[in-house]
Amino acid sequence: MTPAFDDLPVALPAGCVGARVVGDASAWSEAFDWPTELTDAAATRRSDFLMGRLAAVEALRRIGAEGSVGRSLDGAPVWPEGIAGSLTHHSGVAAAIVGREIGGLGIDICPRLDGDRLRAVVRQCLTEPERERWASEEAATLAFAAKESIYKAAYPRAQRFIGFAEAEVVAISATPSAVEKCHPVDGSDRRTQAGSWTAVLADDLARLLGVDAVEGTYAWDGSLLYAVLAL
Ligand SMILES: CC(C)(COP(=O)(O)OP(=O)(O)OC[C@H]1O[C@@H](n2cnc3c(N)ncnc32)[C@H](O)[C@@H]1OP(=O)(O)O)[C@@H](O)C(=O)NCCC(=O)NCCS
Repeated sequence: MTPAFDDLPVALPAGCVGARVVGDASAWSEAFDWPTELTDAAATRRSDFLMGRLAAVEALRRIGAEGSVGRSLDGAPVWPEGIAGSLTHHSGVAAAIVGREIGGLGIDICPRLDGDRLRAVVRQCLTEPERERWASEEAATLAFAAKESIYKAAYPRAQRFIGFAEAEVVAISATPSAVEKCHPVDGSDRRTQAGSWTAVLADDLARLLGVDAVEGTYAWDGSLLYAVLAL
């Protein structure tokens, strides 16, 4: 399916603009000047990479900025001067958010976790209190995606790996009216849920970012979860 753009299903931080693209970008793979580390990547990885760049360029266009999005050696995207941004992709869906004068942005798409994958994520990525608090598939998926969005938003400032024990999701709240906005890209008829989440940061990360806690948003779009954070 030729990539098609639309809006993100999740509430964005003030001053931010986002874009989503759904489809398959592998037809453009041959024409792209690939970073060395992706020359031998699998076709699906290349398509995901291109989809992420398409979403990013569309988000930049929507905010009135020009330029492309590079890739640094550590894997972080390189945004045009003065722009903060983040991108994510999953199986033919990619999303990007951008903003000006923002201390960092993070976005993550995560499919609802279950079975072995859920067990592995819970064991490796959630703290003991999070395992107790967020026992449902939905809540555990959100705790995980929220932490990945923290990583993406914080990395450009931290300039180091941030472990999963350095942030803890302490609250999740749902906005009842959000169910009306459901347009699942996976074609399912599941109702969505959306709201906000809060995470407290460990001391060193809190010092680096100048805040003790962060608050982000989330929305379910069928079986896909979107988590977003601005610092
Ligand atoms: C980097 C990471 C967050 C990516 O998330 P993911 O769910 O695997 O994949 P997504 O599709 O959502 O995001 C991939 C995009 O993240 C971006 N990304 C990669 N490294 C990044 C970094 N250091 N900083 C910011 N963004 C980064 C890239 O744009 C990448 O896409 P691309 O390679 O096509 O350009 C994840 O693989 C990871 O390493 N997590 C461990 C660290 C962590 O999350 N700690 C929790 C702290 S509380």
